Amino acid sequence: MSTLVAALRGAQAPGSVSGRCDMSRASVLIRTATESDVVVLRELWSDVLRPTTREEQLADLRAVLVAAEGDDDCRIVVAEIDGQVVGAVHLRACVVSTLNLEPMVRTFAPHVMPGHHRRGVGSALMEAAAAFAEERGIGIVGAAALSASRDANRFFARLSMGPVATLRLATTTGLRQRLPAVRQSRMSAVPSGRHIDKVLAARRGRRAPRVIS
Ligand SMILES: CC(C)(COP(=O)(O)OP(=O)(O)OC[C@H]1O[C@@H](n2cnc3c(N)ncnc32)[C@H](O)[C@@H]1OP(=O)(O)O)[C@@H](O)C(=O)NCCC(=O)NCCS
Repeated sequence: MSTLVAALRGAQAPGSVSGRCDMSRASVLIRTATESDVVVLRELWSDVLRPTTREEQLADLRAVLVAAEGDDDCRIVVAEIDGQVVGAVHLRACVVSTLNLEPMVRTFAPHVMPGHHRRGVGSALMEAAAAFAEERGIGIVGAAALSASRDANRFFARLSMGPVATLRLATTTGLRQRLPAVRQSRMSAVPSGRHIDKVLAARRGRRAPRVIS
């Protein structure tokens, strides 16, 4: 984890989360999102929002923006090129896990518009994450990437963010349906009491001293 922090420090623009980073291929303006960004955020994050109507997705995002506005430990950052929003990330100061209470900044859904990949926008969003963590004296920055997304995994790997855990999901009914089958196969793998008695008797027999007459 310290490697991760050092790598991000090396890439960080000084100061706060807002500012202009002159990247080699594009001049990226980083700022905090406002409610006026809700439509473009829906476009950017379409694959991570709940699958429902446009109106409900917009309402969800408005609620997320309002919650972020009133929470110092949460920030939604957007990246602009030439006045157009081309990327965003959701930042939250939290802890590593339910049981590991070490502080961490979780970067959720750093997304860049398809036509703007590989121009430094994603890195600028992660610089904002590093600045957000440093403002709070937080030494760990985490992110989730879809296992199947080569883009995301290469991007994070380049930032020295190695894989730590796999999030596995099932529907509650799916889990409930599979449990008896797992229990059944475990039961059939366990030898019956009578079988164990036979095995133990055979072992005792092998260990017993031989009496030679
Ligand atoms: C992942 C993502 C945010 C990267 O954004 P980006 O603006 O293209 O990233 P950058 O231009 O800052 O790339 C920085 C470095 O990361 C690496 N990188 C980024 N995308 C890569 C890819 N598709 N393949 C290989 N390396 C990649 C490169 O080393 C790149 O530097 P380089 O272009 O000088 O070689 C963007 O591809 C994206 O939005 N993907 C879809 C959503 C997603 O998967 N988000 C992440 C997890 S939720």
